[in-house]
Amino acid sequence: MKHRGKSAVVTGAANGIGLACAVRLANEGASVILADVDVEKAEQEAQSLVEQGFKAAAIRCDVSSRADIVAAIELAESHGDDLHIMVNNAGYSLKKDVLEVDDEDMHRLFNVNLMGAFYGTQEAARRMVKQGAGSIVNMSSMQAALVIPDQLPYGVTKAGINQLTRVNAVALAPKGVRVNAVGPGTILTAASQRSVLQNDAARRSVLSRIPMARLGRTEEVAGVISFLASDDASYVTGQVIYIDGGRNCLNLTVPVSED
Ligand SMILES: NC(=O)c1ccc[n+]([C@@H]2O[C@H](COP(=O)([O-])OP(=O)(O)OC[C@H]3O[C@@H](n4cnc5c(N)ncnc54)[C@H](O)[C@@H]3O)[C@@H](O)[C@H]2O)c1
Repeated sequence: MKHRGKSAVVTGAANGIGLACAVRLANEGASVILADVDVEKAEQEAQSLVEQGFKAAAIRCDVSSRADIVAAIELAESHGDDLHIMVNNAGYSLKKDVLEVDDEDMHRLFNVNLMGAFYGTQEAARRMVKQGAGSIVNMSSMQAALVIPDQLPYGVTKAGINQLTRVNAVALAPKGVRVNAVGPGTILTAASQRSVLQNDAARRSVLSRIPMARLGRTEEVAGVISFLASDDASYVTGQVIYIDGGRNCLNLTVPVSED
């Protein structure tokens, strides 16, 4: 119960990693707002948490809108709590040849992946600074550092997340607010099945880059986010923690088993 009495907002919390994160924070005592464009699914998941005895609520939130982010934070505050934890998770990828990427593609991913995290970080930080405490966790990716050539807008936005995280971490450190990021490798979600695990050949290609010889689980990302959000990480700020089964360290490839 390391988040007992704390209030949290998780964006993109209706599915995948964001949902696992909301479930983990709620299970550890936080009151959690599940903020997502897919409000029906977010409401269903929040209701399920409430029925299990946890504190949760949902709100429709498109992170490319500052007003939507503010509404999500205000919903958390309306439950009588200061905002303690902000998880800027919502994001998506796009596969396209670099020669075909157009302005619209760049703007769309920029607005959701990077501006969403910018709004979420700034709006949360403005409140946390007044309290003198708070923890913000942004969603980066291996692709902030390593390249998939047909995912240019995604890689650029995730690289931006890393610097957004570090600049805010340093600026806000004297004010008691910590800012970190997580950079997952390949985690089994609907999004990764669309973007990098489309068929067996693609799955084997991904596995050849993972020393732990398996894909990651959403709960394994949620565990690290929960740690960064907690007082156990009270001296950790400005870090991007890669959750990748060892991929970051690997030169060349590893053998993939036949099954
Ligand atoms: N799955 C992976 O392997 C992986 C790896 C590295 C980074 N990530 C990052 O993790 C985050 C979550 O990915 P996932 O795999 O869980 O995806 P997912 O598609 O399973 O879930 C994403 C959620 O975000 C919501 N969403 C999308 N656009 C939104 C917007 N504009 N405003 C609010 N909510 C929005 C969707 O409705 C969905 O509920 C993303 O930022 C992604 O880039 C995922």
